[in-house]
Amino acid sequence: MTRQPDRGALLSVDDLVVQYRRPGAPPTRAVAGVSLEVRAGEVVGLVGESGCGKSTLARAVCGLTPSEEGSISFDGTPVRPLGVRRRDPALTSIQMVFQDPYGSLNPRRRVGAQIADGIRTAAGRGEDVDGATPEDLLTRVGLPADAATRYAQEFSGGQRQRIAIARALAARPRLLVADEPISALDASAQLHVARLMRSLAVESGAGLLFISHDLSVVRLIADRIAVMYLGQIVETGITAEVWDNPRHPYTQALLAAIPQPDGAGLLPAELPGDIPDPAAPPSGCRFHPRCPRAFDGCDREVPLLSDDGVACRLYPAAA
Ligand SMILES: Nc1ncnc2c1ncn2[C@@H]1O[C@H](COP(=O)(O)OP(=O)(O)OP(=O)(O)O)[C@@H](O)[C@H]1O
Ligand code: SF4
Ligand SMILES: [Mg+2]
Repeated sequence: MTRQPDRGALLSVDDLVVQYRRPGAPPTRAVAGVSLEVRAGEVVGLVGESGCGKSTLARAVCGLTPSEEGSISFDGTPVRPLGVRRRDPALTSIQMVFQDPYGSLNPRRRVGAQIADGIRTAAGRGEDVDGATPEDLLTRVGLPADAATRYAQEFSGGQRQRIAIARALAARPRLLVADEPISALDASAQLHVARLMRSLAVESGAGLLFISHDLSVVRLIADRIAVMYLGQIVETGITAEVWDNPRHPYTQALLAAIPQPDGAGLLPAELPGDIPDPAAPPSGCRFHPRCPRAFDGCDREVPLLSDDGVACRLYPAAA
């Protein structure tokens, strides 16, 4: 599924393939030809069922997982996994908040020291960090300033997520990749922290790739949405337009499955039918075994992305 790259994009992912290999088993194509852009000052929400490849894509974008095919470029610099020490300095302005708030913080260093690393990273790129302190950043994400003197394991999962957000923001990212950054927070705090991330990113002109199971939060903070199914983007568009008029049958099923009216809007654990194994994806359209609108040929022909961002044979493909 190829299309014209957006030359104004801060992040440009083009036909990316990421595979996991295990001895004696076929490779798992966790990301199977994804193209995606994030512009400066834009929030892009990435949604899709568990196992569809969101975290793999996020890690590849940050240069933490090697890709098999395709390309990623950040402000014109190719993103390649070269290891932290050899990382291109331009790429330190991509920061990630990881899905697991337990594994991503160092248990042996005080929280303040870890956030100070981020401030030094920004200073190393020539950013003006005068007056930036770990205490200030902790306060901005809703933690007491004295959290700086404590260790990560002294905090709850939700508090650790706030620390991880403060650490990522400390480095003054131009692109923030946030993988389920609010999942461990109390329901009451989720929207607040998501809005905070949006405003901090947008005010500083950064791009934000926001991955979440919570469709109601994505709807409120994302300018554009990308819907992922089994390693591929099946629909992208302006968030409000996709919500008002979802076109891909998978997007329609996702949005119809949001609990109404008082539910939190979480992605369903499962839509009807089994999620296929990405190591042996269905032929043709990957969604065809579960698609209520499948028709003759959907099991053989791979749908191309339409001009307006839908990969389904019901919509005309881009020329
Ligand atoms: N290290 C790994 N080795 C082998 N397979 C992996 C590895 N990490 C992920 N996978 C597989 O790759 C696919 C995509 O996984 P990924 O974690 O990217 O999905 P996800 O969309 O982030 O899911 P979730 O919503 O549950 O976080 C899954 O089939 C998963 O089992
Ligand atoms: S291409 Fe066919 S199977 Fe795939 S989503 Fe469209 S209608 Fe359904
Ligand atoms: Mg994930």
